[in-house]
This record gives sequence, C-alpha cells and structure tokens, in this order.
Amino acid sequence: MSKSDIYQRLLHLSRDAYVGHSELMSFAPYPDDVARQAITPFHRPCGDVLRQETGLVSETYAELKDAIIDAAPYVVWRETYKHTNIGDRFLNNFGCYSIVGEGGPFSSRQIRVWVVYMPAGLYYPWHHHPAEETYLVISGSAVFKRKGCPDETLGEGSTVFHESNQPHAMETLEDPVLCMVAWRNGFDTPPVLTTPT
Ligand SMILES: [Fe+2]
Repeated sequence: MSKSDIYQRLLHLSRDAYVGHSELMSFAPYPDDVARQAITPFHRPCGDVLRQETGLVSETYAELKDAIIDAAPYVVWRETYKHTNIGDRFLNNFGCYSIVGEGGPFSSRQIRVWVVYMPAGLYYPWHHHPAEETYLVISGSAVFKRKGCPDETLGEGSTVFHESNQPHAMETLEDPVLCMVAWRNGFDTPPVLTTPT
C-alpha cells in the first residue's frame, strides 16, 4: 500500500468511526473542509512501541485500530511534553499524532482529530488546554480522571468530554489504550501540564 493509500485508509476509517458515534457528532459535526496536506514523517520511540504492541484488540474498530498502527511510520509523532520534567519513560511510551490538523496528513479549520496511545502501566499526568475535547476509546481501556469528577474506567466505544481548560489525566493499568480524540475551539494552544495548587 502506498503512503497516500495509508493516509486515505486512516482518514476513511476514522471518519466512519466519528460519524458512527452520536456523542462525537453532537460534540462537533464531521468537518466538510478536510483536505490533504503534505507532511514530513517524524519518528519517536512511542511509534515503535505501538507497532510492537500485542495487547490491542477491538471488536467495533478493528480496521481503524490496524490503520492507526499501519500509519505509525508515516506520521508526525508529537513531542508536546519534551521540555517538561515529565521524564523519559513517558516521552518514549506515550504516543500522539494528528490525523486532521496541524502536523497531520489532512487539514480542517473546523475540528482536529488525533490519535492517542498508551501502553499498559503508564500514567499521563494532569494537563489542560483551551480546546474542548472528546476522547473515543478505540481499543483497550484506561482510567480517565477529570477535575471535579469521579475517576472512570472506560473501554472500547466509550467517550469522555473535557471542558475548556478542565484539568484531566489518564492511567493505563493491565491494558494498553488506543483512542481517537477530537478538538473543537482553541486549537492553537497546545496542552500544558497542570501545576498543583
Ligand atoms: Fe486533553
């Protein structure tokens, strides 16, 4: 499969998952301005961790899960927390890349669509960002933490909504987790770690 075909398959399957989920569609309609944009793939060790992952299964989103993994060598893996004290273990294992949006193979001015991957036994500390956000679990499970809300363990097909600048965190236990994440509004400010008060 060519690189272009890999991107198109990723787009089509992620769009199918998005439009097939009522909570994502009520969060924001799927954009009507999605266009291909050129990217230069950027490798990070977390991409290799994802490709070697054996713990991800999905009944509902099996093809999307495979498309996300197959695209791993051809995407721009993000380094959001590179200049923080989050530590090398997190930096080398936490994976995030864009499908639609800055650094992704597709652009839109309406929403952003990301992939987030965490292997088992990883803690993503409290962080926040102006964009409102909905996570959809594609495969695996994780404990989702939101300030002001009880912790929730969510698995395949579940969603969670983060308000603008609401601190949130995630932890994987025995299972890895693979998510598709949508952003609306406030795109231009990346996530930052939440300083304890
Ligand atoms: Fe977030």
